[in-house]
Amino acid sequence: MQRSRRWFLRASAFWSSAAIACRGRSGAPPAEPRSIGAPISAYGARSRFEKAARFVNRNTKAPLEEAASQTPLHDTFGIITPSSLHFERHHSGVPEIDPAAHRLTIHGLVDRPLVLTVDELKRLPSISRIHFLECSGNSSSEWRGGSSGSDVQRIHGLTSCGEWTGVSAALLLRECGVHADAAWVLAEGADAGKHDRSIPMQKMMDDALVVYGQNGEPLRPEQGYPLRLLLPGWEGNANVKWLRRLKVTDQAAMTREETSKYTDLMPDGTARQFTFVMEPKSVITQPSGGDRLPVAGVYEVTGIAWSGRGAIARVEITTDGGATWAAADLQTPVLPRAHTRFRWLWKWDGRNAVIASRCTDETGYTQPPLGELIARRGTNSFYHNNGIQAWRVAPDGTITNGNRA
Ligand code: CO
Repeated sequence: MQRSRRWFLRASAFWSSAAIACRGRSGAPPAEPRSIGAPISAYGARSRFEKAARFVNRNTKAPLEEAASQTPLHDTFGIITPSSLHFERHHSGVPEIDPAAHRLTIHGLVDRPLVLTVDELKRLPSISRIHFLECSGNSSSEWRGGSSGSDVQRIHGLTSCGEWTGVSAALLLRECGVHADAAWVLAEGADAGKHDRSIPMQKMMDDALVVYGQNGEPLRPEQGYPLRLLLPGWEGNANVKWLRRLKVTDQAAMTREETSKYTDLMPDGTARQFTFVMEPKSVITQPSGGDRLPVAGVYEVTGIAWSGRGAIARVEITTDGGATWAAADLQTPVLPRAHTRFRWLWKWDGRNAVIASRCTDETGYTQPPLGELIARRGTNSFYHNNGIQAWRVAPDGTITNGNRA
């Protein structure tokens, strides 16, 4: 009772500020359509008035085929990322693959090697699940001072969430008769660079999928059409796209991607290897860097939280730089290893504020302050930044990255 009354008081403050904002505009009702509308179409496109797009994050020393593009987190709603806005990261461009010619080969330490067509895979029992995918290099701009990003898309846009449909990897491996000494599976893509990663057998048997569907239709080419490996909660690069081969082995293959590339250099000169799980993380997407609050008043603070270790248990919001925290509402469904939408109503008094979110997952792990991560892992690190993102709100309403003083 107490709670809903407080909400009402804050909501009425919102409506009065909305009324102030409306008064400046024309009071005339919108014009009626004058002519008949566009005809029906075979495949839809969004309104021409909508402009949200991926940000192409380009290393100017590398070709575009080796680039990444980032999801406009600020401009997407709910928890599902439209397939057209799902982030991309390619090492050697997007191959064009004819699904009729594509094969998935499963071999190595198995009794019965298998070569499957895409149609044969689609005839097997299917599974659909909603999961996030995050690049382990997401948010890496924040590790070092002076190179911090300006907005939520450029800093954190290498995470997306979708509904994936495919076949259980365990079903395929059991069909092949995996040997008792099988401990790893080398997954290889059909792109020009043959991107590959060694995956522990336990993950393959637990919840790995070989997927062909994304958000109700076939995978987009940039997401691995016609087949990709999906490892719920694990770093993006291990979810091998354009999947063409699973080789069962008794040890990790030690490919380029798991030796010189996707390892984490620690302050003492050693490196963490096979750091697959994406740790709990959250970020306020609205309002966020680059926004400007027009007047003091009530705003909905919203964002996303996710954890590679399970479901999000709670999200808290601070508006005073971490001195005090309040619980945000979680939008259902709250799914394991999926983006979770949170909301919180904030009455901004028009003064300096530092707003941030932090999440805790069902295992009890709480997202750490960025400084704590840097103290533990040093500044050689690049991957796996799940530190708290602060946004600084100035009295004129402008919002900037608040990670550095
Ligand atoms: Co890693």
